[in-house]
Amino acid sequence: MKLISGSASDTLAARVARELGTDTAKIETKRFPDGEKYLRVLGDVKGEEVAVIQSINRTPDELLFEYLLLADTLKDLGASRIIAFIPYFAYARQDERFNPGEALSFKTVSKLIENVGTDEIYTIDMHQHRVLKSSDVFNIPSHNLTAMPLLADYVEKVANLHNPLVIGPDAEAEQWAKIAADKLHTDYDVFEKKRLGSETVQIRPRKASAKDRDVLIVDDIISTGGTIVEALKILFSQGARRIDVACTHPILVGGALARIYEAGAVNVIGTDTVSSPISYVSVAPLIAEQIRKESSR
Ligand code: R5P
Repeated sequence: MKLISGSASDTLAARVARELGTDTAKIETKRFPDGEKYLRVLGDVKGEEVAVIQSINRTPDELLFEYLLLADTLKDLGASRIIAFIPYFAYARQDERFNPGEALSFKTVSKLIENVGTDEIYTIDMHQHRVLKSSDVFNIPSHNLTAMPLLADYVEKVANLHNPLVIGPDAEAEQWAKIAADKLHTDYDVFEKKRLGSETVQIRPRKASAKDRDVLIVDDIISTGGTIVEALKILFSQGARRIDVACTHPILVGGALARIYEAGAVNVIGTDTVSSPISYVSVAPLIAEQIRKESSR
């Protein structure tokens, strides 16, 4: 199987290639003077199965379009099968029409990816709040992998947490809190919102108390950092001893990272689905494992 990367994921793809003992096929991209994108696949892909790695992060419209050009070109050049690895899948949060007339972006993006000839798709900790299975959105085989075991292993090595409590900042995060807690041989909980009056809500862990505990907060995405900062405030007010934070996708908009450290987090740890100053954990082994399985089918 050939391995090829879009411009968002060349470092990650190089790591995957190293895991597999292979190299990546190259593409050339540039902009025409009028702003249009140019893309060229270098090398022959006729009859080949191709794994394409392209995170759709930070500049999602541009990177999505690049993926569409790349996949369509590969099929046009005779690639026999395209397996997309989209470690960060943008637009998954707009999975519902919250206000009349809104675009169902998740559905539109999925359709576009399918329509350029993608045969199978892998995502990593894709945001699934209302859509609970990727097969609810995709008509091609789809798999949502999780980076949480890799993150928990890393936290265990670097943070030296004492009797940690793992916390997910909302109900959806329970899936990740459970995995991290199992890895760290400890307990977990998630925040719940309790309405106290028409204008007051109380947010706190469902049952566990953070008092005198080392806490690890886990989530899929850190974007503005607002969710994590709020969680830090609540957990410190409960008497948490120290708090570390781990997430799969460190989007880190604006001053998100600084705000989280200022709010008292000791370590903030993310993966390289999005390259960032805290991308300490690589998802390359996760992707390489699936490519190995796909190649041996
Ligand atoms: C929300 O449901 C997600 O799981 C994350 O908690 C959210 O996207 C984080 O966004 P922000 O960092 O902007 O609070």
